[in-house]
Amino acid sequence: MKGKGLTLWFTGLSGSGKTTISKGVERELRARNCLVEILDGDVVRTHLSKGLGFSKQDRDINIRRIGFVANLLSRNGVVAITAAISPYQATRDEVRRMTENFIEVYVNAPLEVCEQRDVKGLYAMARAGEIQGFTGIDDPYEEPLNPEIICYTAEETVEESVAKVINHLDLLGYLPAKPTPALTYVI
Ligand code: ADX
Repeated sequence: MKGKGLTLWFTGLSGSGKTTISKGVERELRARNCLVEILDGDVVRTHLSKGLGFSKQDRDINIRRIGFVANLLSRNGVVAITAAISPYQATRDEVRRMTENFIEVYVNAPLEVCEQRDVKGLYAMARAGEIQGFTGIDDPYEEPLNPEIICYTAEETVEESVAKVINHLDLLGYLPAKPTPALTYVI
């Protein structure tokens, strides 16, 4: 059985774990023969949204573009996974309305934790005033009001967060059964 198309919309601060969890979810979904595509904020900004900055207007354009592509994919049976900060509730709600089977995943880690991780060194630069308008420092992040799933990445392991997402999709009947070794052998 083919899996249903849907959009898994990860949102959260820079360094919260969106990319890491989305890659883990992708791996699990592929093991279940789902079609998967990741639209990662950092990657999208080097192609689809090249040239856009981080003003509210540019971020909204970026998010609408990602939403547009995610919808094209999900309506064709693909699990579209998006991993962009997407800091504004109204814009997330807008893409929710225009996107098939939309599931919002709040990747929740306190700012202090993201800042301590500082994977890309950007928080230090923002604190030093070398980057202006950095999300969480001097630019807003509106916490999701009603996300379907919350991953607390300061407390859960990556595997736990990934399992949380997969179990949710399973419960909603979005996923084909996991192929068992016995079945694979018979086929
Ligand atoms: S969004 O706000 O439009 O959703 P997006 O996820 O595409 O943002 O890009 C965020 C990434 O861009 C961050 O993870 C970080 O690597 C980089 N970045 C550069 N400048 C900023 C900034 N001012 N605010 C947030 N992220 C920034």
